Parts: sequence; C-alpha cells; structure tokens
Amino acid sequence: SSRVTLGPLVAAIDQGTSSTRFLVFNAKTAELLSHHQVEINQSFPKEGWVEEDPKEILQSVYECMERTCEKLTQLNIDISNIKAIGVTNQRETTLVWDKETGEPLYNAIVWLDLRTQSTVERLINKTPGRNKNHLKHKTGLPISTYFSAVKLRWLMDNVDEVAEAVLTHRAMFGTVDSWLIWARKGPPWPSVYSKTSCPLYFDIPMEILPKVRSSSEIYGLMGLCLQCLGDQSAALVGQMCFQEGQAKNTYGTGCFLLRNTGAKPVMSDHGLITTVAYKLGRDKPACYALEGSVAIAGAVVRWLKDNLGIIQTSTELEKLAASVGTSYGCYFVPAFSGLYAPYWEPSARGIICGLTQFTNKSHLAFAALEAVCFQTREILDAMNQDSGIPLTQLQVDGGMTSNRLLMQLQADILCIPVVKPSMPETTALGAAMAAGAAEGVSVWSLCPEDLSEVTSEKFEPQINPEESEFRYARWKKAVQRAMNWET
Ligand code: G3P
Repeated sequence: SSRVTLGPLVAAIDQGTSSTRFLVFNAKTAELLSHHQVEINQSFPKEGWVEEDPKEILQSVYECMERTCEKLTQLNIDISNIKAIGVTNQRETTLVWDKETGEPLYNAIVWLDLRTQSTVERLINKTPGRNKNHLKHKTGLPISTYFSAVKLRWLMDNVDEVAEAVLTHRAMFGTVDSWLIWARKGPPWPSVYSKTSCPLYFDIPMEILPKVRSSSEIYGLMGLCLQCLGDQSAALVGQMCFQEGQAKNTYGTGCFLLRNTGAKPVMSDHGLITTVAYKLGRDKPACYALEGSVAIAGAVVRWLKDNLGIIQTSTELEKLAASVGTSYGCYFVPAFSGLYAPYWEPSARGIICGLTQFTNKSHLAFAALEAVCFQTREILDAMNQDSGIPLTQLQVDGGMTSNRLLMQLQADILCIPVVKPSMPETTALGAAMAAGAAEGVSVWSLCPEDLSEVTSEKFEPQINPEESEFRYARWKKAVQRAMNWET
C-alpha cells in the first residue's frame, strides 16, 4: 500500500512523573497521529521518600519511541518526515550520574519526596522571623522540599558515590530533561529556563550544574533536532497562552495552574511561585508565569488503586464516584507530600474526615475528586488576588480531564466555566510546537489563528454559588486539620 503524504511531522517525548509518552503530530494541522505510553514505577523506600529508576525512565523513552514509530509505519506514515523532537518532563526530580561511565549514582529523587523536610525546617529556622519566603525576592520560590537544590544537597551529604564523584569532578547533576538529552548524545548537557527557574540552588559547586539554554533551540542531533520545555510550561504553550493574563491548569500526578505574566516576573503575596514560563529561542525574551503547584492530583487516584485497592483501574474512579454523586460530608485532604501552594507546609499530612457508619468507598472516591477541585480553587483564589483580575473561565488539560465528573465538579467548585480541548495532550503539543518552531527547523507556526481546527468542550457551573461556598468552607477547615494534625 502507498505511503500517506502529510508534510512535516514533529514529535514530543513527554516524560511525566507517572508515565512516559512519545507522540507524533502533523506540523500543519497539530493533529495527533500516533503515540505510545509506558507507566513508570515509583518506589517508596521509606515513609515520605519517592524514587524512580533513571535507567527505567530512559528505557521507557526508547520503548515509546520505537512503538510509536512502528504504529506510524503500520499507518503507512513515513517516519523520516519527523523533523524535530521536543522534550518535556516532570520538573525538579533530581538525578546525579557519572560523566565517565554514564551510570546514575543514585535513584532519581522525585519532586514529591519529603526526605529533605528536616533540612528545610533547619534552613527556615535560620532565616529572620522563620520566614520560608526569605529568598523569594531572588528566586521566586519559598524554601521547600519540592525543589532540586535540597535534594541535590541530600545526595551530596548522604550518598558516598555522589560525594566522591563531586570531589573527583565526575559528577553531573540534572533534572530528567538533562539526563535524557545527555544519555542520548553526551555532554554538554542543557537545562532550560523553564526548569532552572524552579530548582532553588545553593551551596552547590557550579561545575556539576547543567548549562542554561532557551526552550526552543537545537540541543543535539539524533538525526533530528531536540528542544526542551518543562512540562507545565509546555502545557501553557500547548494551550496557546501567549498573552499576559492567560492561564491553564494541568491535571497530572500533581496539578499546576500557570498564568502568563508577560515579560516581567511578578512576585506573589498569596503563596504562588514565580517562574520563567518559556524562552522560545536564544535571542527571544523570557516570558514569566505565576504558578500554583498542587502536589497531589492524579497521585490520589493511584493511591486509591495501589494502596487501598478500592479500584482496579483509574477509569473506575469516575463510575464509583458518580454512583453516589456526593461525598456525604466526607472531606479528604491528600497532603501526602505536605501541602504545596498556597500553604507550603511540609509537615502537613493527609486526612480523611467527616466519616460516618454510612460512608463507603464511593463517597471516598467522590471526596478524592473533590479534593483535586478544592485545591485548584485555592490556587485560583490566590491567582485572582495576586493579579487583581479574576479569571472568567479556566482552560484545563492533562490525563485527569478525561474524567467528566471531575470537570463538572471543577466548574461547580470554581463557579466559572471549565474549558477542555478535545485533544488533551497539551503538554506534548506545546513541546512539539516549541520544537517545530525552533530556529533552523521552522515547520510549525506558533500563531493561534493558524490552528483554528482546535476544538474544545465547556463545562458550566451547575450548582448555586452558596452550595459551592459551603463545601469550600468545610474543605478549608479540613485543610487546617491536615496542617495541625499533630497538635
Ligand atoms: O513540578 C512537577 C511537575 O512538573 C510534574 O508534572 O505532570 O508529572 O504531574 P506531572
């Protein structure tokens, strides 16, 4: 059978916390042609610790690439038309490897990991007035377990192989993007603005840090061009939020609401972080964002599946929750990694409250979905207060948006419409766009008007605002319990 002629194609590696994907798009229409996804194992060696295997991550990327190319070939699509590959990934997850052997010196410490809690508390205790925002005017970030610097410090202080490699100038540190690009092509290994603006480095030798590069330039050739963007920034690009004031919320392992603040970094007074959203080209200006980071969104579904066993697959959750349509007054604060924005409280822990003899697993499933929505509401409130201009609708994407009950609940709890593109792989789309538009590739237009085909679905609020406020006020009380559970 004859080859299908489509013109240039652009691919994206999307290495998320829970899974890896490889996706191939038509650069002219943004149509997703084929993809493959592989789940990533997480290990929890001690309470609060979360690790992943760097080699498994790498292997999953190769597997996804191979399988997607096989699928394209079966569709008679010529893979030699792939002109560039964007890399997008979980941010802050920290790796150190030996530049001579290429071997990882420890597992990847996942962004959710809490092992640095005591270090963070010690650092905060040293600041005037025990102020977790002491460095915020310089870094845009609170002092928190979330960011890479404290993780790297832990590795240097606790893993002999890492300490030794630092001393003998063989250590290389990076986030997942740097690891993937380095493993593929060897040094120099880049990290991009959208990720380096998150990690909060201090007391760490400069020579082990990657070079900072823009998100849309050629990093290396695998026969192809590679470009790179942090996953949340990629989703912002994929949702075409290029104008100041535009925002998106991505429901992955965690949940991240980013609002474009234009050429100027804006400091939050309400618990959000300030980050570089993207810099699409070496000579292009950086664009900044305010970010509300929620640690646990999709991760709560995995927990209900793997730890409680009340569902066998993620998709069962929607059915279970829909079978009751209410939590019956049960509130679930999944503060498994402490609480991130707007609280930044590493000592918070998960709680489930409001239980009666009547409560069953369906109510718990509903409460878990509501938790994702309430956390987003807290971020949206903070974002609106910081910018003074309330969002009138929320653009959403990510794996969990296929849960229609969640989307409806989200609109109900925010009291504004929620808009979801029909192609939810916005993170990969953004990475592919940055790759396809890079200087020297130029097969993709970043003009939203050129992609008029993009369709979306709107969820309008269906409950009255009083009901919504009542539930939200209860949630806030539950959050206070989660933060003060020990007292
Ligand atoms: O900051 C962590 C974030 O990048 C992880 O994203 O999609 O894996 O939840 P995700």
